[in-house]
Amino acid sequence: MKKQLTIALSKGRIFKDTLPLLNHAGITPIDDPETSRKLILDTNHDHIKLVIVRASDVPTYVEYGAADLGISGKDVLMEHGGEGVYEPLDLNIACCKLMVAGKPGVLKSTSRLRIATKFVKSAKRYYAQKGEQVEIIKLYGSMELAPIVGLADAIVDLVDTGNTLRANGLEPLEHIADISSRLIVNKASLKTKSETIKAFIQQMSEAVELNSRD
Ligand code: ATP
Ligand code: PRP
Repeated sequence: MKKQLTIALSKGRIFKDTLPLLNHAGITPIDDPETSRKLILDTNHDHIKLVIVRASDVPTYVEYGAADLGISGKDVLMEHGGEGVYEPLDLNIACCKLMVAGKPGVLKSTSRLRIATKFVKSAKRYYAQKGEQVEIIKLYGSMELAPIVGLADAIVDLVDTGNTLRANGLEPLEHIADISSRLIVNKASLKTKSETIKAFIQQMSEAVELNSRD
């Protein structure tokens, strides 16, 4: 018998990119989170529900078992640390890069860099691996502003088209990691709901394959 599955994901980019995958897997949400105020969405399958949370909260819901599964950017997982969750599938959606960015030439002209970012752990890890001493300033958004107003020399942020950097007179300087969204699973759920979850992972894996051909 199929067990109840709760899947955590965020609205906006991740929901939009996940919809075609769910469709390929025959799963259709009943409500649209962009227009509905509901945070728990039914689907055309009685045993599958979606819960809508902040992108950075998805791993926490899955870690504590409030959701059996989740869809989360690798950037968010790198910050969270991945405790209590398995990461069985790269969904190949919401693809971008985690990069150091700043004004042209800034890395050569500054000795001890001041870096503004919301990705504090990833930035610390990156500079520790390089053996470079930097000062990290935590921000929650609009990182591109920091080098313009002199809050920081450079930023660590997500870059896709590069349009946001260009619009603010900045450029990508160093590549830290390729980012895409991952399916994550609560470790206990994988034991207690093994068959249902494995079937779901298999369906999503086929959906990723089909999606890549669209
Ligand atoms: P929160 O609401 O928790 O602050 P957020 O505003 O970063 O999160 P989104 O902007 O919806 O949430 O981004 C969700 C995920 O999409 C990110 O974690 C990242 O993996 C990916 N992403 C972010 N920006 C881009 C982009 N420009 N292009 C492609 N993927 C991106
Ligand atoms: C993300 C990221 C960059 C931008 C990069 O912001 O934080 O600012 O996308 O994309 P680009 O290289 O294609 O310009 P987002 O659009 O998600 O806005 P937010 O950070 O305010 O959510």
